[in-house]
Amino acid sequence: MKKLLFVLSVSTLLIYSCGDEKKKEVKKEVETATEKVKEVKEKTESAIEINPEVLALGEKLFNDKTCAACHQLDTKVIGPSVKDIATIYKENNGDMIKFLKGENEAIVDTDPGQVAIMKANLDGFVKDLNDKELNAIATYFQSSIK
Ligand code: HEC
Repeated sequence: MKKLLFVLSVSTLLIYSCGDEKKKEVKKEVETATEKVKEVKEKTESAIEINPEVLALGEKLFNDKTCAACHQLDTKVIGPSVKDIATIYKENNGDMIKFLKGENEAIVDTDPGQVAIMKANLDGFVKDLNDKELNAIATYFQSSIK
């Protein structure tokens, strides 16, 4: 009888520990799958952001609307570089469209003189752009740091 009890308790122990292993395995599988879903989601999102048509429109507007005169890709000319602006907006989760609409304050260069220079553009060129065009410009900025 004692022996039987011993065997029983050992096998119960074994079953329990096996169950734990299995749980760990399943947990790991779920984690891996979750990781994969996240990856695919991120890829899809960046693919949507850099839709080539939107990007081309953004680049065209950037040149047509004289933005390029003060914003170069890599270097600061009069305004901050396109890449610096895109990086700061990304890091701060900023809304560039709202800035272009004059609804949000500047976050890249807050020097009043500099802000006034940019403000003249917002009032001059940018106010006539529609949401689709503003989104295209913002996409163009974002794509510079991809
Ligand atoms: C005459 C020069 C000049 C032109 C033209 C110009 N900008 Fe600027 N821009 C600046 C200056 C100076 C700043 C820095 C002040 C600031 O950050 O608001 C700036 C800043 C910005 C910022 C960052 C705003 C922030 O949050 O600080 C964005 C975005 C921007 N410009 C977009 C544009 C776009 C789009 C155009 C074309 C429609 C444009 N700029 C045309 C001078 C210019």
